[in-house]
Order: sequence, then structure tokens, then C-alpha cells
Amino acid sequence: MTTSILKRTHNCNQLGISDLNKETTLMGWVQTRRDHGGVIFVDLRDREGVTQVVFNPEYSAGVHKQAHVIRNEFVIGIKGIVSKRPEGMINKKLATGEIEIMADRLEIYNSASTPPFLIEEDTDASENIRLRYRYLDLRRPDMQKNIRTRHKTGVVIRNFLNENGYLDIETPFLTKSTPEGARDYLVPSRVNSGQFYALPQSPQLFKQVLMVAGFDKYYQIVKCFRDEDLRADRQPEFTQIDIEASFVDKEEIMKLSEKMMKKIFDEILNIKLKIPFNRLSYDEAMLRYGLDKPDTRFGLELIDISEIMEKSGCKVFADAVKKGGIVKAINAKKCASFSRKEIEQFTEFVGVYNAKGLAWIKIKENGKWQSPIAKFFTEQEIDALSDKIDMQKDDIIFFVADKPKVVNEALGNLRNHLAEKLDLIDKNLYNFLWVTDFPMFQYDEAEKAYQALHHPFTSPKKADLDKLETNPLSVKSEAYDLVLNGSEIGGGSIRNHRTDIQKKIFGILGIEEEGYKEKFGFLLEALEAGAPPHGGIAFGLDRLVMILCGTTSIREVIAFPKTQKAACLFTNAPSAASKMQLEELFIKVKRV
Ligand code: AMO
Ligand code: AMP
Repeated sequence: MTTSILKRTHNCNQLGISDLNKETTLMGWVQTRRDHGGVIFVDLRDREGVTQVVFNPEYSAGVHKQAHVIRNEFVIGIKGIVSKRPEGMINKKLATGEIEIMADRLEIYNSASTPPFLIEEDTDASENIRLRYRYLDLRRPDMQKNIRTRHKTGVVIRNFLNENGYLDIETPFLTKSTPEGARDYLVPSRVNSGQFYALPQSPQLFKQVLMVAGFDKYYQIVKCFRDEDLRADRQPEFTQIDIEASFVDKEEIMKLSEKMMKKIFDEILNIKLKIPFNRLSYDEAMLRYGLDKPDTRFGLELIDISEIMEKSGCKVFADAVKKGGIVKAINAKKCASFSRKEIEQFTEFVGVYNAKGLAWIKIKENGKWQSPIAKFFTEQEIDALSDKIDMQKDDIIFFVADKPKVVNEALGNLRNHLAEKLDLIDKNLYNFLWVTDFPMFQYDEAEKAYQALHHPFTSPKKADLDKLETNPLSVKSEAYDLVLNGSEIGGGSIRNHRTDIQKKIFGILGIEEEGYKEKFGFLLEALEAGAPPHGGIAFGLDRLVMILCGTTSIREVIAFPKTQKAACLFTNAPSAASKMQLEELFIKVKRV
């Protein structure tokens, strides 16, 4: 091992046929080493690419001898001459595939333990192994590309927002709870015994206070922390592109967001997006797609057949509607060939969303039904349903009857599942969609309480203000979500800049005066000090970059992500604290 005397002159992607006979010094990792009867070939890799290096005893006997100890992932530097590869040895797939370096100098900076998987594109190593050895996983070209795309996206965003007059202002991590619908991560205070900070679920309250402070236009690319059930597109700590502006309406924030997305897609993917994006009201999204983040790259829309079912002789369905539920259907065109086993799998799939069953009808010759429920319907009802659902020969129709929430979730997710299975999704499409006119509140049956559909700082629509107390569920809000290919990539709203309305909303949410003073007193106090009308939005940077990189998990675009169980397999966090640390924090741990 040696410290370097060599000075790097090029990266491993740079040299080509126009550099023949140049002297070069390259540094990097040994991708592969092949000993071809006396001549040793090394593919040398750095973050930019790969170059073939040749250690030939006839060219430099000393260096060739030295090269025998080199193994995969050793860190080396070489000096040599750029040479043309012999005919037949040219590698068209490699940027440097026409040349190789005849080495006359070798420095070995470090050896390397044998990696548990090959450092190559499209590894078949399991995700747990990849996360355990993340430093090796990150060496792979696809991960290098993802992380660089993330960097570049950040640069485009910063430039765009700077050009539009937005100021990057940091907000604290050790703070009070910001309700965004998840549990807080708490941090105990050593100097204030028994007291806790909450890590922010978002900078929501601080960005509003920055508007009161007169900063007018704010942004931050910032970590947020949420203790919630994790999925492919959810991490306990994730990054938001957080934006807030004063004296704006909904349209201005939406326009700014569209311009920013256009710029990002142009600069990262060279795709020219058409703006403005389509819009859909929340009610229509739920009606047609069952989800508030519909993937509009394919059809398979849900059809509400409650009216026909209510009067039908099919008791399960008629009763469901009479009890205030709904019945919806999906027509999977030309899919009557689904087997019993496949239908069983779909039934299990919707069961996850609490659907009690999945009824189906296969359409045979002359519109005849094959179905376990066919016998419950009259000829007229069959005609009415055939019409409404556009039933044709070889179609299969799936139904769920239940409370609206269950039906929509079950069929909305089945719709996405069927589209994947039937390969209906054009992966080259980027379908942006604004979902607007959200209800301000939803009623949580289990908690017997109203909840804010977005967060409690969202402004109700002006026209609905007088219904706030009389009929909260009918009140719509000034909130908007941006959906891309079925993924919610952003959400925001116009806020309550008047304390009287904000207090009313806390009241409806069941937060008593003492409660909101304790939790949000600082915000109310600030709003009373002269708050401008304001609003904003936050985008999930991880989700956006995931889509830009064409991956399906945000873990692929985060350097050090956590597992489903919120663990870091590489550092082994979380881990136990020492007795002394706990004592200092006045904390006793109860083992369960
Ligand atoms: P919201 O809670 O909708 O809004 O969050 C904004 C965006 O952040 C992303 N996101 C996540 N990404 C990865 N992992 C998570 N656990 C996670 N949770 C959310 C989503 C989401 O659209 N303060 C408001 C914004 C505002 O009103 O301005 C907020 O945080 O892409
Ligand atoms: P059963 O009478 O329970 O055998 O159900 C007959 C058919 O209706 C089966 O295919 C069930 O999967 C389906 N089914 C039962 N309950 C529901 C429901 N709530 N929604 C949709 N399908 C249902």
C-alpha cells in the first residue's frame, strides 16, 4: 500500500480514439481483473465510467508483476499510454471501448474484502443484503445514476425557485408537533427533565410564520419525520420541496408548480410536458377511480351501480345500499378467461381493504351471464346492468358492495392491480393530474371525531364558511394535490390567515381552547400579529425522483434508506441507549 504520488488526469469515461498515445493517470476501483496467460487486464471504474487497463510484461515487467495481487474492488491508481485496442477487441457498449491504457505505473491504495455481491447493474442481491452493505450497493452504476439524478433535480429546483424570488430559509428540527396525520418522533430534552421535542412532520407552521414575518416567498428542500406504517413510497424520514408564498391564490401556486415540473422534466429527462395539467375534483376522482390519487394512464374506470342494485333481488347488494353503502363495478374487457384461482387471488387482494367478497360475472355468447349471483337478477335488471357497464362477450365484471370507503379502496386498488397484471400501463407516459375541491373534514367512525383531510391549517372554501359549524362534512377546502402516474407527489393549500376561522376549525376537530393554545398558541399569536393571505405546497422529492429514475421504490433514490421496520441495516439503528444516557434523560425503559 502506498500514498499517492500520481496525480489523476482523467476520469474513467473520458478517453477515446482521439486521445491515442496520450499519457494518462486514472484512479478508481477494480471492477474486474482477468489474467490472460501473462497479460493482466483490469477494468478500472470510477463514478464516471470504466476504462480497460493492460498490464503487459513485455511493456512493463515490474508493473505486471505488481498487478498479480490486485483483486476486485481494490483501490488503485495507474499511469500509462492510451492505445488502440486490437481489431476484434473493441467494446461498442463502453464509451471508452475503442481504447485501453498500457500501464507503466501502478499504485495500490487499498485492498478490499471480497464483496458479498458483484458490483454491477441489475444485481440479483436481495434488498436486505444491499442495505446491509449499502456502501457497496451505492457503487453500482444504477445507484450512482439515481443519486446523481437526485442531485441534479435538486439543482434544477433551487435554480427555478431562486429565479422566481423564493428564499431558502431553514426551520428547526427540534420543535413542537406539526400534525400531518402521522405519529411524531420524539426527542427527550436533557436540560428540561421529562420534556420532549417533536421532530417536524413538515415545516408547515414555521413556513406560515415566515409569511407573517414578511418573507413573502419561502422554500426549503428539507427532511420531514413521520412515524407511520412504511411502504414502497413511504420512509420515516423523507425530503420535501417545501414552498409557501404570500398574497397568492390557489391558481398562482398551481401555475408555479406546473412551471417547476415542466422545467424538471425538460432538464432531467428532456421531456416537454404540456401545461396546464388536467384537473379532477376529489368527488369525481373517488367516483371514477375510487382513490384520490388516480393513475390516469389507463381506463378500467369504476362504475356506480348502486341504484340498480338497490332494487334488485340480490340481497347482499340491495341491503348494502339500503344501509347507506354503495355497489361499484369494474369491467375487465376480454378477460373472461381469468381462472377460478385468479379470481380467488383477486378476492384475497380486495380482502386486504376489508371487502367482504368480490362478486363476478363472465359474459358468454349472446350476452349470457356465467356468475354465482346470476340467479338473483331479473331479465330487466340484467339488461340495465349490461347497458350501464357496457358488458360484451368475453368481459368479466367485478363487484364490491360495502360502505363507500371500503368499496372505493378495494376496487380503486384492484383497478391498479389489474392494470399491472394486464400490462395496460404505457410506461412512457407521465400523467400529471391535479386533484382539487377536497372535503375539509372526514369523520372517523372509530374515533367518533372529525379529522382534517389535509391538515387543520387549510382554508375552507369561502362559499362554504357558513356551513362550518352546521354541516362540516359538506365543507370543501382550498386544498390541491398533484398526482403523477397514480403517486401523490405533492399537496398544498391556501391557509387560514384569520384566527377566528382557524379557531373554529380546531373546535370542529375537537381540540379545546386549552389544547390548541398549548399546541398551536404560537401560530395563533403570530396570525394575530398581521398575517397576510398565504398558501403553498410541498412535494415529495423522493417520490418525484423515484419516477424520474423509473424505479418503483423510494429506497432506490435515497442513499441510506430504512427498511419497512424503520431500521437502518447498515448502521443498525435504532439501538438501545446506555443506562447513563437514559438516566441523564430521566427515562426508564419498559421491556415488552
Ligand atoms: P403532505 O403531508 O401531503 O403535505 O406531504 C407532502 C408530500 O410529501 C410526500 N410524503 C412522503 N414521502 C415519502 N415518505 C413519506 N412518509 C411521506 N409523506 C409525505 C408526498 C406528499 O405529497 N405541510 C403540507 C404541505 C402543504 O400544505 O404545503 C404537507 O406536509 O409526496
Ligand atoms: P355468498 O353468498 O357469500 O357465497 O357470496 C356470493 C358471491 O358474492 C361471492 O362471489 C362473494 O365473493 C360475493 N360477495 C359477498 N359479499 C360481497 C360484497 N359485500 N361485495 C362484493 N361481493 C360480495
